Amino acid sequence: MKKRPLIPGSADQWNLEHLAGHYDSLRDVEQMAHYSILAGLIKHFKVGRTILDIGCGEGLLLDHVGKEDFKSYLGVDISEVALRNAELRSNKKASFLLADAKSLKLRERFDCIVFNEILYSFPNPLEVIDHYRPLLKKNGCFLTSNFIWSRKITSLINRLNSSYNCRHQVRVSNECGTWVCAIYKR
Ligand SMILES: C[S@@+](CC[C@H](N)C(=O)[O-])C[C@H]1O[C@@H](n2cnc3c(N)ncnc32)[C@H](O)[C@@H]1O
Repeated sequence: MKKRPLIPGSADQWNLEHLAGHYDSLRDVEQMAHYSILAGLIKHFKVGRTILDIGCGEGLLLDHVGKEDFKSYLGVDISEVALRNAELRSNKKASFLLADAKSLKLRERFDCIVFNEILYSFPNPLEVIDHYRPLLKKNGCFLTSNFIWSRKITSLINRLNSSYNCRHQVRVSNECGTWVCAIYKR
């Protein structure tokens, strides 16, 4: 039987990548930098009452956000393989949802929406942000982390900064490279 070609960005493609261990390195100490910055921004700007984490993967951000710094967390991912591991982190405050972030509709409002190492996977990253902005509460913010691995990412960060109101931005580097983490007003 002929194999179906993999559609880039499809659940099948992400599931295969998760199964192949492409994202296992996100647990390494070198990755701590950007998770810690995001966790610090959530704490400092006190936006952790209700967190929505788009493309949450295994929910690793939860290992970095202080238990007292958030009240509820919803992680969304297209990959059931990633969510199988994420479920190990689910508890009274944290839950996970299998869905395609590009089309997901939620009724709930959030204090903080996180796009951690996911925006560059979307053909139109700003469209995805604009899809979620109405879900932010009045003083809500969205957070981004983007690893600089090509000029495309630098231009994405420039577009974010010229399209939205940035409250604070941090560049963090180590031997793996540089991440730009930022918090934007609704
Ligand atoms: C590079 S990983 C980052 C995971 C997580 N944000 C972290 O930093 O630990 C990107 C994640 O986005 C998920 N993803 C990709 N496209 C998606 C979509 N359309 N909807 C929901 N999740 C998606 C993938 O399955 C993957 O888990």
